Amino acid sequence: MSQPLITFERLSVSFAAEEGRARAVQEVSFTLEAGQTMGIVGESGCGKSVTAMSLMGLLPAKVASIDSGSIYFQGQDLLDLPPTQMADLRGNQIAMIFQEPMSALNPVLTIGEQLCEPLIHHRSQSPKAAWQQAIALIERVGLARAESLMKSYPHQLSGGMLQRIMIAMALSCQPKLLIADEPTTALDVTVQAQILLLLREQARANQMALLLITHDLGVIAQMTEQVVVMYAGRVVEQGPTAEILHNPSHPYTKGLIASRPVPGERRRRLYSIPGQVPDLAALPNFCAFYERCERATERCRQGIPPLVGQTRRVACYHCETVEPLL
Ligand SMILES: Nc1ncnc2c1ncn2[C@@H]1O[C@H](COP(=O)(O)OP(=O)(O)O)[C@@H](O)[C@H]1O
Ligand SMILES: [Mg+2]
Repeated sequence: MSQPLITFERLSVSFAAEEGRARAVQEVSFTLEAGQTMGIVGESGCGKSVTAMSLMGLLPAKVASIDSGSIYFQGQDLLDLPPTQMADLRGNQIAMIFQEPMSALNPVLTIGEQLCEPLIHHRSQSPKAAWQQAIALIERVGLARAESLMKSYPHQLSGGMLQRIMIAMALSCQPKLLIADEPTTALDVTVQAQILLLLREQARANQMALLLITHDLGVIAQMTEQVVVMYAGRVVEQGPTAEILHNPSHPYTKGLIASRPVPGERRRRLYSIPGQVPDLAALPNFCAFYERCERATERCRQGIPPLVGQTRRVACYHCETVEPLL
């Protein structure tokens, strides 16, 4: 088999907290193949963004520390790379888009200046060639009147347009991996669907792997082949998306599915998982889902359930390991 694009190997990341350290990510392992789409799902505060920021080498150095583990990109451990090489990789091989496109753009530079800059610096293009390519990129992400958009400033564009510009910027360096962290959470529902469609099309057309972070299982279902379910900093279930959504194993995954709002229905959710994510600075030395779990027994207080299985993996003393039907 060919080498995976990305391999997380028992990555643990913690933050300085008021008392002790917040264990944001613990022993996270998973593999992403070239061209694959993978989702990371879980409630707010479960370590999804920290996982992505570790991969990008963008953790806030003053407060965060990588305690153990590795992140391999095509066999190279990114955690061993000097910052200059990591910055180079970020511009070229791995790109990321965020929830708030406005915060990733410079308000005093035009869209054109911001699209051309990486083409001139990373790709050594002439200003004229960069301009032409930027126009082509804007058209590729479905925006009309490219010439006039190039001369606009970020505040003159809607959120949906800005997110398209961010996608154009990400595509400009032809990355092997695009990380999208809640890319549509800040957008109107109709615009959300268009942006997701664009992301999926572009990932396919460019044979780009997509690591999509969201709290929304509907988005996971629509967009991804593989899913990693995170709870309180750990992977609790992982495998093919269709399998997991149709036949979830972990009680947390079941809870997420049951509490999913029905599309088109604006009414209150029928169910929500009781309780909340525990304080990451005071995690128990047993299953972190214990307090909220319908199936919890004494057994669950006797240790941290290991993540077991092959194609499908689950971390729960009460779950049988399930192998895919497909
Ligand atoms: N900048 C930060 N400073 C301190 N703690 C942080 C910071 N960013 C994240 N954390 C800690 O990491 C946990 C996971 O955060 P995050 O990965 O952003 O969650 P989410 O799953 O919502 O993306 C937070 O609950 C918090 O304890
Ligand atoms: Mg987040």
